[in-house]
Amino acid sequence: MAPTRTSPSIRASKMTDSKFHRNVQPPTGYNHKRVRQGLHAGVNYKSHYEGVHEGPEPFHYPLPLPVVEGMRPVDPRGPSLKLSDLECIKPLGMGAHGRVLLVRTRGPAASAGAKLFALKAVRKKGFRQWDTADFTRRNCERAVLVNMGWNPFVTGILQAFHDDRNVYLMLEYSPCGTLDQIMGAPLSPARTLFYFANIVCGLEHLEKSGVVNRDIKPANILVGADGYLCLCDFGPALDIPATDEPIVVGNWLGDGTAAYQAPEGVTLDNQPADVRYGPALDWWSAGVILYEMATGALPFEPPRREKNVAPRGSVAVKQIWDRIMAGPPSWPGGVRVGRNLKALVKGLLTVNANTRLGARGAAEVRQHPWLRTCDWNKMRRKRYIPTHLGTPTPELSFAQKPLDPKQFPGLRITGNCLKKCV
Ligand SMILES: Nc1ncnc2c1ncn2[C@@H]1O[C@H](COP(=O)(O)OP(=O)(O)O)[C@@H](O)[C@H]1O
Ligand SMILES: [Mg+2]
Repeated sequence: MAPTRTSPSIRASKMTDSKFHRNVQPPTGYNHKRVRQGLHAGVNYKSHYEGVHEGPEPFHYPLPLPVVEGMRPVDPRGPSLKLSDLECIKPLGMGAHGRVLLVRTRGPAASAGAKLFALKAVRKKGFRQWDTADFTRRNCERAVLVNMGWNPFVTGILQAFHDDRNVYLMLEYSPCGTLDQIMGAPLSPARTLFYFANIVCGLEHLEKSGVVNRDIKPANILVGADGYLCLCDFGPALDIPATDEPIVVGNWLGDGTAAYQAPEGVTLDNQPADVRYGPALDWWSAGVILYEMATGALPFEPPRREKNVAPRGSVAVKQIWDRIMAGPPSWPGGVRVGRNLKALVKGLLTVNANTRLGARGAAEVRQHPWLRTCDWNKMRRKRYIPTHLGTPTPELSFAQKPLDPKQFPGLRITGNCLKKCV
């Protein structure tokens, strides 16, 4: 008798076709036709049945099939990581309370290929100081990021860890640096519009989530591998107060960066008695960034020539404040920006926080004539081809300033972070 023809996968398990199919006992409710189609397409569902009924392996539910009673799909995110599953390969940035490190998964966690994350290490000592001064600030960045839904224009948090010295926030990694590195010269109108629209999408999400970032500036805006921008650094972020809630003004003053900070973040002078703290703070900063992208200069900072002799710190804040009070910023000669862009910047840089463009919602900004060419649904879904693709920074390089492993007791640090680059 001629031997039975078997398919290659069944031949490997030394079983004839008919024996194989008899051996598979699909639970009731399965679409047998689709299972067979799946088998012909090379998908081995048998292992799934085994996984469910006998073996300890997790059951990976084949998506096109209907949900069968008694079976639950596994969480596609996989098991959570531990701090020991990560190793630092490069420092990414330095902040006021800690450092941001580039980490990759190691050991069994990297068996299917290492993954990269940005790990923000914040010293616990900083939290303790805030705790005593103002308990609303306790581990604020983690709380804000966790409570906010994921959005492509805001850096997402994946996990948090801690050791004796630091709290670590594991964040999505954006590999092309920050907007700060692009600034310096005027950007093309198309690029300015594209980046500003990205910022609007991010701020719109913050507004929907009831969060004010309070430190929007180019150094806190990352450039993703896809050329789109992404807001980061929610250290000084606060929840938008409900309209009937009394405002603790002290919580809202002082944080942020002088050149980008809204006037009501510095003092309540020149504000109406019923000033509201909210998204208007971030819209001011967005206005400063828009001006900077269009002209290459800051609207309220003394020009570079004067800056070299200008004092720093509180005196610099005073200088900026005087310029803000002197009226809307002047536009440098030689830079051609249209009437609409000037009107948009003027609206965003309105001193009165209650009448500032954006104070009544992001839609106000989106509907501005300068942004009329932007299809917001397309932008939110990242359907536009970016005007410029960033260059990813090399993942492995020697550190400018070597890391001290004692500062990160729970984290493994690879050798190249301990050596200084030459
Ligand atoms: N998710 C990230 N991906 C890549 N680089 C990042 C990321 N988060 C932060 N950085 C880098 O680290 C710097 C400092 O991070 P930031 O969150 O602003 O810290 P700080 O609160 O101390 O200012 C940023 O300017 C950026 O260069
Ligand atoms: Mg920062």
